[in-house]
Amino acid sequence: MGSVDVVLAAGRVQAIGPGARAGAPEGAEIVDCTGLLVLPGLIDAHTHAVWAGTRLGDFVRRQGGASYASILEGGGGIHTSVAATRAADEATLLALARARLAPMLALGVTTVEVKSGYGLTTEAEARLLRVARAAAGPLRVEPTFLGAHTIPRDRDRADYLDELCGPMMAACAPLATAVDVYCDRGAFTLAEADRILRAGRAHGLAVKAHAEQVEFTGVAALAAGLGALSCDHLERIDDAGITAMAAAGSVAVLLPGAMLYLRDPSPPVARLREAGVRMAVATDLNPGSSPLGDLWTAATLACLTMGLSPEEALAGITANAALALGLPDRGHLRPGAVADVALYRPPPGELADARVLVQYMGGHRAERVYIDGVRVG
Ligand code: NIG
Ligand code: FE
Repeated sequence: MGSVDVVLAAGRVQAIGPGARAGAPEGAEIVDCTGLLVLPGLIDAHTHAVWAGTRLGDFVRRQGGASYASILEGGGGIHTSVAATRAADEATLLALARARLAPMLALGVTTVEVKSGYGLTTEAEARLLRVARAAAGPLRVEPTFLGAHTIPRDRDRADYLDELCGPMMAACAPLATAVDVYCDRGAFTLAEADRILRAGRAHGLAVKAHAEQVEFTGVAALAAGLGALSCDHLERIDDAGITAMAAAGSVAVLLPGAMLYLRDPSPPVARLREAGVRMAVATDLNPGSSPLGDLWTAATLACLTMGLSPEEALAGITANAALALGLPDRGHLRPGAVADVALYRPPPGELADARVLVQYMGGHRAERVYIDGVRVG
């Protein structure tokens, strides 16, 4: 057999397979994959990568028996990160975000969704979305507006909701591709989530939700009914939520980091699978519930703690993650796909089978990375 090639031209995959270079157009990039595992550039479909400050105190308290929700309701948790993030200047936030995204690129991640949510004023949320976009570098960032992360301590609830659905949405929608809401204990109610997601949709944003994580609220069914691209977490989703997600084609974004750190039960993967709901896997990188930036580790944890097959985990960090972001031409290597590619050397002595990268936990640095057909790592 000749070399296995991927031919990239005009920002797209032109051909893939043994000897594919034979028909390559003039000026194409020929990626020789001999001896390497070739995958579409990985996609992390859920992160909160822009924040300042530490949450070590929360971690210590949770290890001492305090719950995530009680810390949040007591003014810690997300509020701690909001205070530190508001106090940081833009250059500091940008440097921190870049320092979190650069190692992702080294692991072969080429698209990252980044949420705002640690500003919670119109100006501070817009600033986080600007920082998320500026932090991209060669990596592709999909910014999501999460002004609905929680109600800030210094605001009246009704006033904050009015600002969130009015001027804040108007200022942030042009900087984001999706709107997200944390509908849960210590955050927003189902009725509030409905109003927030509808306001985002009216501004042309795709719909997402942090759903059924700490407590069941019914927001997965609500968001699916609004045409959500994804409902994320889902540890406590019910059958009606699963049915609604299947009908809407909403992707289930599974976040094993948060599940483990908060010692939550697994989302009902068998029922999601049976209903035909597509599953993505993401890091949920954030300082509180999931201080985890390694998407490969998340993929392995999704197998070990949730029961995904290695094939499902691979689809979860590629094609299904792309669908969770509304980007169907990423996350696969068929001709016509966006030319984002990552190449890996299998672990020593291992098979040339991408599933070994899920079997061995984490830290798989890519040998080569291409974005838009251009080598970037
Ligand atoms: O995805 N649960 C809500 N939001 C994040 C956590 C954010 C934080 O704790 O700072 C999550 O788990
Ligand atoms: Fe999250």
